[in-house]
Amino acid sequence: MAYKIWSWAVVLLLSVYSVTPSATLSEEEASFITKHALPDGPLKDKVDKVMADFPPLHGMHGINREHDAFPPTKYTLFHQAGFVPLKEFRVFVHYDLPEFLIKRGRTSSDLKNIGRIYMADKMRECIKKFQMQNIVIPQKYLYHLPGKPARIHNENYVVLSEKLALRNKEENLKALWHLPKQTVQELLTLIKECGYHDSHAYNIACLPNREGIVAIIDTEPQTHSVSPRVYRARLMQYLNPETCAGLGDL
Ligand SMILES: Nc1ncnc2c1ncn2[C@@H]1O[C@H](COP(=O)(O)OP(=O)(O)O)[C@@H](O)[C@H]1O
Ligand SMILES: [Mg+2]
Repeated sequence: MAYKIWSWAVVLLLSVYSVTPSATLSEEEASFITKHALPDGPLKDKVDKVMADFPPLHGMHGINREHDAFPPTKYTLFHQAGFVPLKEFRVFVHYDLPEFLIKRGRTSSDLKNIGRIYMADKMRECIKKFQMQNIVIPQKYLYHLPGKPARIHNENYVVLSEKLALRNKEENLKALWHLPKQTVQELLTLIKECGYHDSHAYNIACLPNREGIVAIIDTEPQTHSVSPRVYRARLMQYLNPETCAGLGDL
């Protein structure tokens, strides 16, 4: 039942944001932005400098084909601005900004990217409530792109995610297989109680040199209701069956 409530909460939140018609922010939106903004200071100044050149989402559509010959393609736009794509032109690094990854929305209207911030908060609350010791959520900031309107929209905001040192994919798979029972139990509670759903191997980072501690690096919400059993099963395929023996059903 809990997962239904969470997924509805996310849908509601995202639809409130998506129908906001003008640059005027509601009180709820304004406080969400303030709460999650990068604090003023030298780091913020550095980020502002780098992000001043972040290419707009507008104009990205229709230039997705590898063979597009006419400039500027999305490749040259990001390249010229110094952003290196990590995944599908949605997750980037910039080598003048080693502290963060930059996560952008896919389209002009979906708000799942901004929902990463909302879900990260929910997961932290859940971690606190159930006194989990083995799961961490990287720091995330809602970043307002310089010179853009205030409206909550993929064109105007990106998510800055604290960059963690990760194992490579194969090492991560191996560490997942060897996770202690306590960490597995906590992950299952996160799925059941917080609606955590994207439980595949590369979203759960087993931190190097921190035995048994995992970071949930992908907190993008779902906007449809699926039983936590599905996400539990997705996680289980990476775990040692001996570790999972005796863990209760959802
Ligand atoms: N906080 C982080 N620290 C280091 N690497 C990260 C972090 N977040 C994401 N990544 C890298 O970027 C990839 C894509 O990020 P993710 O949030 O999973 O995007 P998507 O929602 O597209 O799956 C991850 O698989 C990982 O390699
Ligand atoms: Mg992911």
